Amino acid sequence: MQTSTRNELLLARSLAAVWHPCTQMKTHESLPLIPIARASGCWLYDFDGKRYLDAISSWWVNLFGHGNPRINAALVDQLDRLEHVILAGFTHEPVVALSERLSRLAGGRLGHCFYGSDGASAVEIALKMSFHYWRNSGRPRRTQFVSLAGSYHGETLGALSVTDVSLFKDTYSPLLRRSAQVPTPDWRLAERGESARDFAIRCAEALEEYLRQHHAETAALIVEPLVQGATGMAMHDPEYLRCARAVCNRYSVHLIADEIMTGFGRTGSLFAHEQAGITPDFLCLSKGLTGGYLPLSVVLTTDKVYEAFYDDEVTRGFLHSHSYTGNALACRAALATLDIFEEDKVIESNRAKSAAINAASRELAAHPRVKNFRNTGMIWAFEVAGDRPGLSRKLYQSAVAAELLLRPIGNTVYFMPPYVIDAEEIDLLLTRTHEVITQV
Ligand SMILES: Cc1ncc(COP(=O)(O)O)c(C=O)c1O
Repeated sequence: MQTSTRNELLLARSLAAVWHPCTQMKTHESLPLIPIARASGCWLYDFDGKRYLDAISSWWVNLFGHGNPRINAALVDQLDRLEHVILAGFTHEPVVALSERLSRLAGGRLGHCFYGSDGASAVEIALKMSFHYWRNSGRPRRTQFVSLAGSYHGETLGALSVTDVSLFKDTYSPLLRRSAQVPTPDWRLAERGESARDFAIRCAEALEEYLRQHHAETAALIVEPLVQGATGMAMHDPEYLRCARAVCNRYSVHLIADEIMTGFGRTGSLFAHEQAGITPDFLCLSKGLTGGYLPLSVVLTTDKVYEAFYDDEVTRGFLHSHSYTGNALACRAALATLDIFEEDKVIESNRAKSAAINAASRELAAHPRVKNFRNTGMIWAFEVAGDRPGLSRKLYQSAVAAELLLRPIGNTVYFMPPYVIDAEEIDLLLTRTHEVITQV
């Protein structure tokens, strides 16, 4: 069969059988799906060998390239031993080793790991655990959650309840619990002449005022540390997290760090909250956890929280489960990913790579239509000026025509490439993005 025919056939079958995520399917009448036959490193290929640079790490999950030989080898080895076993009543080496290692990497103060599958399931676990902790601790009135304006924590009902992106939330609002939002420290919203840090402190004061009034019924504050992703890569100063930790301590409110996107080096440190020198009560991880290979999420929490559930009474335990909790293959992929971090000193080498990308971005940042060019670690973002209807879609399509997978959020374009992106690929990404912005 001709390769182009294989592309077309796959598209037709996909449109007939697959309901694609986060998509009004009718848009595919005019915006073709892209068939992917294979992938290697930063590149995705169709059956004709047509290629796309995966500049968004396939929805922010991939860290060390597609088809990474080291993660592949670990998975093959694991396949011959154990693919999966129920984690209630049973245990296995990869889940134990991963839990020990994550706890150590998170500074040793988060001693227990509870596993889920996708990011949203980790958020559900953290919310339920926080509520249940207070109930077990004789504070059953603490049933409410507070999050930042513009926050995104996932699409399941609990996670959507603490999300503040109207495009995803409004339709389902009759199904959701109410949650409160406090001002976001997104530095683009600072007053003229106000530093990002001063603005962060001002926003933390608003949080303090909220908790002063509502702490008795608040279980937890949930935050995406340093970068709020889905709202458009809104970046803030670490001072916000330091202040938020202090305020939560003052009012005995849990701090949940949703590092589903920001974890595993995305913001320049292994975990974003490290940059503020704080420890959250709950740390939610997913996405890069398995290097972008398999769905796995985890919530790390303190021994203090764990102990509040440890009892003769069954219902004081955390009776939450998912069938694939602690899947052995996924845990092994995560261990292989952590090996790469250690062996290749990835956090250090990403520092040099981030500086090189910043230096190479000067021309793009100076493009007359580029606004708010910003960077945190291995994330870059900017707004494209112009109110042309359908700008986002036009940017996406022009990028695809230029061999780039970008997925603008409104008129915000961002890069979140796999860490293995090389100098030639960086040059191609920046040059072609410059051309795309000139064209649209
Ligand atoms: C900060 C944050 N939390 C939660 C989620 C939800 O993760 P998942 O899509 O794996 O359910 C996402 C996904 O983008 C995210 O960025």
